[in-house]
Amino acid sequence: MIPVDDPVSLSRLFHLNSEPWLNEQAYREAPFLHEYMDHAGASARVELPAPAGGALASMFAGRQSTRAFASWTMPLATLSELLFAAHGVVGIMPMETGGAYLRRSVPSAGALYPLEIFLLLRNVEGLEDGIYGFDPRSHALDRLFPRARVEQALGAFYTAPFLGGANAVFCHVAVFGRCQKKYGPRGYRYILLEAGHSAQNLCLGAQERGLATLCMGGFKDSTLNKCLGLREPDEGVVYSVAVGMAER
Ligand SMILES: Cc1cc2nc3c(=O)[nH]c(=O)nc-3n(C[C@H](O)[C@H](O)[C@H](O)COP(=O)(O)O)c2cc1C
Repeated sequence: MIPVDDPVSLSRLFHLNSEPWLNEQAYREAPFLHEYMDHAGASARVELPAPAGGALASMFAGRQSTRAFASWTMPLATLSELLFAAHGVVGIMPMETGGAYLRRSVPSAGALYPLEIFLLLRNVEGLEDGIYGFDPRSHALDRLFPRARVEQALGAFYTAPFLGGANAVFCHVAVFGRCQKKYGPRGYRYILLEAGHSAQNLCLGAQERGLATLCMGGFKDSTLNKCLGLREPDEGVVYSVAVGMAER
């Protein structure tokens, strides 16, 4: 029995035991199982007005996963804007208890910001190919590993064959304890939700710039985490998004 005041063991057990599930039959059948809830007990049905649109509506419709990226050089300014969308600092928030924290482009449970962004970069203007870490405090990139390590890290993705020309793979790295020391096992859920917020900002930010994305949950955790130099099991990639120019 895991003690109730143990903040991480339960989720760690799950996290470490949920490497991609290679079940051929389920993979063959799943695309055809589009299911909906019929609300059998509903007392009335209300037909809704057609959505009127708005600034974001066409972007929602236009966002689509891409599995063919063209060879293209990404301007450094574009990468900077994408990082701002995904996890940039948007302001300084004073705290009632004194001090202040850096508010981000995404919400975060308790403003604890358990996610860090690591990047696998190729063909970005003015940057050597390599693995980089994003420091949101100064909006800067730290080069961590050379190009050879990028190729190795890309190999951890089940979609590696589709990532040919993708300029950047944004890896959302969780530092689990940052959130779980306050929220315990439930904090694990918050971390995954926050990765979704950030990934969606990134997808829409890319879309706004005419770029294509592929969100990826299918990767070999242990291989990818090692390539990024993470301290397992306290840190680990939870979600990744590839960005580049779609092949026309
Ligand atoms: C959590 C999550 C994980 C995903 N993982 C993968 C993946 O590993 N490989 C992949 O090719 N697509 C992945 N996708 C993309 C989905 O296959 C895609 O979103 C879905 O087919 C709907 O298509 P659309 O994105 O073009 O609307 C993932 C999407 C989500 C939300």
